[in-house]
Amino acid sequence: MKILMVCLGNICRSPMAEGILRHQAQLRGLQIETDSAGTGNYHIGEAPDRRAQAAMLRKGIQIHDLRARQLHPSDFDRFDAIYTMDRSNYNNTLALARTEAHRKKVKPILDELFPGEHREVPDPYFGGDSGFDAVYQMLHDACERILDQLHA
Ligand code: 4NP
Repeated sequence: MKILMVCLGNICRSPMAEGILRHQAQLRGLQIETDSAGTGNYHIGEAPDRRAQAAMLRKGIQIHDLRARQLHPSDFDRFDAIYTMDRSNYNNTLALARTEAHRKKVKPILDELFPGEHREVPDPYFGGDSGFDAVYQMLHDACERILDQLHA
């Protein structure tokens, strides 16, 4: 199973989601491949935001080695599932999909917890540390659900 996490900058939410999924999969002894990307190009090559790194370290997970990249049309072939964080990411990701099979791979990540509601993981970039902790908790719960379904 290959899972791609997508946000806008690929320095806050999606690298956190990638790190959490990778960590939880390891704890469960599951072999999955994870990566993340941004719909935007502003932060290509950058490490995750320091506040995202710190929020993850508070939970014992290191993501300092990740580097931002931009979502590419080939990602729809490479990955089995593509999870987006908010409505804007969702729409921008779908706009790059060329086939129905590709479109079917794209899903708002919080729909794993609240099916069909298209709830959003709020962008923590312009806020404080508490926003990053809140994002961690949402993504943690969603990633647990994703892995539960792989088991089932
Ligand atoms: P992310 O957060 O999409 O969760 O990585 C953002 C990072 C940077 C910007 C916006 C959101 N920005 O405007 O530079």
